[in-house]
Amino acid sequence: MWKKIFCKTENKRETAKLNEISADLLPSHIAIIMDGNGRWAQKRGLPRKAGHKKGVDSLREIVKAACSINIKFLTVYAFSTENWKRPTAEVDFLMKLFSVYLDSEVEEMDKNNVRLKFVGCLTELSGELQSQIKKGEKKTADNTGLGLNIAVNYGARDEIVMAARNIAQRVLSRDIEIKDINEQLLDDSLYTAQQPPVDLLIRTSGDMRISNFLLWQCAYAELWFTEKNWPEFMPEDFLRAINDYQKRDRRFGGLEDK
Ligand code: IPE
Ligand code: IPE
Ligand code: MG
Repeated sequence: MWKKIFCKTENKRETAKLNEISADLLPSHIAIIMDGNGRWAQKRGLPRKAGHKKGVDSLREIVKAACSINIKFLTVYAFSTENWKRPTAEVDFLMKLFSVYLDSEVEEMDKNNVRLKFVGCLTELSGELQSQIKKGEKKTADNTGLGLNIAVNYGARDEIVMAARNIAQRVLSRDIEIKDINEQLLDDSLYTAQQPPVDLLIRTSGDMRISNFLLWQCAYAELWFTEKNWPEFMPEDFLRAINDYQKRDRRFGGLEDK
């Protein structure tokens, strides 16, 4: 069935992978640390920004693939709270790229029923980028397909601090009492409120670390790593990750249910 709807692909490897995926066991929420853009470029003797540019093409293809197999939520890490440490020229280039991305992709996302949301401390971005983000989110707000979260100026520790402050404020203003603070309330105070926890976390580029991404939401995520750098990550790799995920035994602290 998916063969017909998937990306109009002629790619035999993608089709083969697709046929191995079961519709019943799809992860509800996939998160991706899109890493290795710089290394991809450097290996080819290109400037790092060429890798970031190429990375946009990968993202477009993965979003399409996620839509085609009816994934509910996809969160991608585009810029961390720590990435401001990079040279100004690289940071400026990335900010410009987010703006170009929004310009060129929102229309297509809307056609594909994607609901766009940016997660992170957005008030530290330029006013222009913030209003572009708001426009993109507003345009796609009523869509019912893939929920695409793009993490920009995102840090999981920062997110948890923000949630703690909001909760403390609500206690101070007597909106809630201390006894009302529980896991659900904290979950609802994060950028990802009302979304399912991450089932599958993918990181490209061979590094095996979380780098301050979705620490709370990934509590029981299955982790999947690949040596491929993000600009060479293709839908068939994405499908491979999902297929591997479907073979994992998720126990959540309990015992094997077989
Ligand atoms: C990921 O690629 C993109 C961002 C962090 C913005 P990198 O830029 O981290 O590429 P590497 O890891 O240096 O190769
Ligand atoms: C994580 O990659 C952030 C993004 C992919 C946006 P980094 O390249 O910043 O992570 P570290 O520094 O290798 O941990
Ligand atoms: Mg990196």
